[in-house]
Amino acid sequence: MDAINLLKTDHRQVDKLFEQLENGDGNRERLFTELATELTVHAEIEEQLFYPAVKDAEPTRDLVLESYEEHKQMKLVLSDLARADKKTPEWKAGLKVLMEDVQHHVGEEEKELFPKVSKLLSKPQLEELGTRMEALKVQQLAAVGR
Ligand SMILES: [Fe+2]
Ligand SMILES: [Fe+2]
Repeated sequence: MDAINLLKTDHRQVDKLFEQLENGDGNRERLFTELATELTVHAEIEEQLFYPAVKDAEPTRDLVLESYEEHKQMKLVLSDLARADKKTPEWKAGLKVLMEDVQHHVGEEEKELFPKVSKLLSKPQLEELGTRMEALKVQQLAAVGR
């Protein structure tokens, strides 16, 4: 599994969950729990494996530092939304801000970081990294009962 493809697949899954939450398809609690799990596990595999693989290289150092900060921000908003009453208009407004922040971050990863990473790492390196990331993802999802 190519590391970049794995992350892009996660990104599309997150887009889909935001869309379902926006459209009010299905149960808000359940969809939000799923979104929070997806985002948390995704951030974890990036922070533990993907970012460290490129954090010391000159072309990616600043982008990676910024990414860690954006994850911190995202986790704060996620935990606020998890605690708040999900039936209020305020909650919906908060969700929209989270979505915009996540879309901005994902856009930077896909348009700036990933193209640089695919030049820094070879195909076999990306495959090997992706395999480790996938294993960590399975392990993390199992830990939350998914
Ligand atoms: Fe990220
Ligand atoms: Fe990402």
